This record gives sequence, structure tokens and C-alpha cells, in this order.
Amino acid sequence: MRSLLSVPANRPAFFEKGAKSIVDALFLDLEDSVFADQKIAARQTAGHSIGTLDWHGKRLLVRVNAMDTEWGFRDLVELGGDCPQLDGFMVPKICSLDELRFVEQTLDALDRERPRERPLELHILIETAIGLARVEQIVEGARRLISVTFGAGDFAMSLGLYGRARSAGSSEYVVLTGERGDENRQTHWNDSHHYAMARIANACHAFGIIPVDGPFADFNDKLGADVSNRRARSLGYQAKWAIHPALIDGINATFLPTAEDVTWALTVRKALHEARASGTGSAQLDGRLIEAATMKTVDRILMLVDRS
Ligand code: GLV
Ligand code: MG
Repeated sequence: MRSLLSVPANRPAFFEKGAKSIVDALFLDLEDSVFADQKIAARQTAGHSIGTLDWHGKRLLVRVNAMDTEWGFRDLVELGGDCPQLDGFMVPKICSLDELRFVEQTLDALDRERPRERPLELHILIETAIGLARVEQIVEGARRLISVTFGAGDFAMSLGLYGRARSAGSSEYVVLTGERGDENRQTHWNDSHHYAMARIANACHAFGIIPVDGPFADFNDKLGADVSNRRARSLGYQAKWAIHPALIDGINATFLPTAEDVTWALTVRKALHEARASGTGSAQLDGRLIEAATMKTVDRILMLVDRS
């Protein structure tokens, strides 16, 4: 799973386009895409569409409302109970291991009540200060968790920020070069999401969970989206949300090794096999040392391509 497309659960006109897109997973959003007075109707629309539309084999999830709202629990129970075509849930604003365990027990009960081919999947968002403070505990204690998404928009709210821009770079979060009196002092932008993103990615990798980056909001900014994809991948993220189908191609391409990566991997593998046959543990490629440990990178590249 490299890409996830979110579709507002009260906009069935978008469902078919999402289902036919090249995304790996699709989720119908009952949370922040839907106003409070439309929550129940959106749940019904989602339930009906899940059962009647052709989803083209897409992994199909629902983002439910948070567990501390009047809708979240019923979203899980009603859709989990009535929709055998549903693959699982995305649960926002998880703040503690206890809360996660409550969700896990609810899914256990749904799976026992109505056994399916595969158990309901559980994906969560970490997007509050308290959730981030407990992220290691949460992922270590989870039993049926598959992925954790970082939700930058809610996280900023949780830190008391109210800037309109949701992107990681900000003209306010900068360091100033030079000293007082220097001419041409410059401001260098920092990445205000770095701490949260790196912490979540590390916690996920420590406990075998997939880290997923939340959406890049301005879908007309192709360069911005591309940089955001690559930044997430560099921090260890394995997938990213798209809020518009136009972003899916870029995400799918970013979270797979490139053709050059594969060529490099095959060349290294050949050189290392020859080195082993001649009794040495290392070889040279383009003037650089490659050794047995490099095989791990080679294996990872080939495994990712093989799986896709
Ligand atoms: C996503 O849910 C976010 O809050 O950014
Ligand atoms: Mg959110």
C-alpha cells in the first residue's frame, strides 16, 4: 500500500472515479469532510454504496469519526456489521493505548459476530499532542494495527497554531543567517513537521507498523506535492494520502524504487555474487566499495519492486 485516496463519504458522485483510479487503497471519509448535521446521512450513503458499487478490487476503508464523538462508535459497529465488502477502518485522533484497545476489542467482536475472509483492518491517525507523546506506547501495545498516519492539520491545531498554511515549510519557522549588522542576512526555512514525522516513523518501524504521511493539501502545486512525497519517503514513510486523484501517480512513483534503483541493485548483486565466488567479501563498483551489507539494500529494492 503506497497510496490512499480520501473521498468525502457524503459525495457518492466521487466514489466511482476513486474506485477506477490507480490508487492502492480508498477510504470514504465520515470525519472531517462531513459537517455534523450530515454525519448520519453520510454513514447511510457510505453503507449503501459499499454494498452496491463495483470497487474494482480496491482496498476499501472508512475513516470513522473520533471515538470521543457521538458518531464514532456507531460508525464502526454499523458499517463493520453490515458491510462485508469493507476491508477495514481508519480511526482518527487516537490518544492512548486504552483507546486503541477499545477499538481493537470492538473489531474483535465484529469479526466474531460476522466472520470474514480476512479480519477487519485497523489503521489510525496520530494527530494530537497527547497522541504523539504516547505514540511508542500505542504502537508497541497494538494487536491488530496495520498503519499509522500523521495528520498534520489536526496536529497543528493541537499545538494551538492557527496559521492558514498547512504545509511543513513556513516563513515564520526559520533561522536567520549571519549576525547583527551583517548585510544580506537570509532566512532559512525549517521543516515544522520534522519532529512529529520522524518520531512516528521511528515508532512504527520499531514495532512493525506501516508509517503513512497525511495529505499534501494544495493539489495544484505539483512541485510542492512531489517534494512532500520525497520528504516523507526520506524519513521512512512507506505511503501517503492523496486528497485528489491527480496526486496518486506521483505518490505511487515515489514510494517504489525507480528504474535506476533497480538497475543499480541488479549490478550490485552480480558484482557481489562474483566477489563471493572468487572468495572475497567485497567488490568495487564505480570506484566505491560494496560489501555483503549492501545486499540488504539490494534485497529491499528488489522485494519492493517484486511486490508491486
Ligand atoms: C488529517 O486528518 C489531518 O488532520 O491533517
Ligand atoms: Mg485530522
